[in-house]
Amino acid sequence: MSIIKLHDKYFKTYITAEKIAEAVHILVEQVSKDCKNDTPLFIGVLNGSFMFVADFIRQYKYNCEVSFVKLASYQGTNSTGKIKQLVGNNENLEGRTVIILEDIIDTGNTLEEIYKIFKDKNVKQLKIATLFFKPDVFKKELPIDYIGIPIPDKFIVGYGLDYNGIGRNLADIYQLTSKPTMKNILLFGPPGVGKGTQADRLKEKYNLIHISTGDVFRSHIKKESELGILAKSFIDKGNLVPDDVTIKMLKSVVNNVPDSSGIIFDGFPRTEIQAKTLDEFMEEKGETIGGMIAIEVPTNLLVSRLLERGKTSGRLDDQDENKILNRFNEYFTKTAVLKEYYRAQNTYYGPGNTVLKQQFL
Ligand code: IMP
Ligand code: MG
Repeated sequence: MSIIKLHDKYFKTYITAEKIAEAVHILVEQVSKDCKNDTPLFIGVLNGSFMFVADFIRQYKYNCEVSFVKLASYQGTNSTGKIKQLVGNNENLEGRTVIILEDIIDTGNTLEEIYKIFKDKNVKQLKIATLFFKPDVFKKELPIDYIGIPIPDKFIVGYGLDYNGIGRNLADIYQLTSKPTMKNILLFGPPGVGKGTQADRLKEKYNLIHISTGDVFRSHIKKESELGILAKSFIDKGNLVPDDVTIKMLKSVVNNVPDSSGIIFDGFPRTEIQAKTLDEFMEEKGETIGGMIAIEVPTNLLVSRLLERGKTSGRLDDQDENKILNRFNEYFTKTAVLKEYYRAQNTYYGPGNTVLKQQFL
């Protein structure tokens, strides 16, 4: 789950590819039941329907034909652009069962144009199947025979649908959402790289709140709270605190931060489960993670820096080289992969190589 930006607008995940596939499957079953003894001509309305039509047709097991039309505003001498023309419709439709495949029916204006055009083609029957339908805005008295997923009157993109030309290639459907207002960043890197130091600078400059999960755990350990005692058993050995414990704590901290321009996450997420949970959690708040900023320092320098810090930090996990190496091992086996997670979302900012891992191993 995430928030994406297309042109000037923000969209959040709304209907997953799996849910879309289920809806397409049900539509195929309904249409198959009604048409299997016929050879229907499926007509997709371009551009938006190309993905739906491809998935639909692939699953339709009986004889059928496929064609596409495009409804274009009539150009030429007409300046109003209101007269519509169906491009690509050259077949003889007399006596045929024609099934229009639409990606989305909104006001129904497009559908009405299609009806007008097919009215005098002497078809045997004309049926409409649409993957998405907005019942709240549909104003026409026209029958829609098959409806995949009814949705509220909010603009969507993905699975063939676009916003000003882009977004058609998204596998999931995204829904328009308000602009996230916070600058939320992840400071990322192995232990001792200087995340805390950089966080101190950034929070001053940009009025951000700094949340270091390590610091929160250590303050619980100091208070000897239940959470602290549990966390201590992992942290002292240089192991990661389990996901469920860390996530629960992080949510509670985030829910209680004072107003700010954003949050710097330091030491969280450390696993892919944590990263996914954070995305979902942010999205519930109408926010997003703006970027992961990765800092890298050669591992041998890190070890000496941590041992040096251990002289004054009082941190047991900074004082023993074996524990330090175990922390690196945890980082490189469970955490470093998160760079790919954020790279895939186009929010990774940092060195593009895995040199450090090679040095470490
Ligand atoms: P109509 O209002 O039913 O005529 O829909 C017209 C066209 O607007 C559809 O075929 C789509 O191309 C486009 N459209 C309507 N609603 C949406 C939406 O939520 N996302 C993307 N395109 C849309
Ligand atoms: Mg359309």
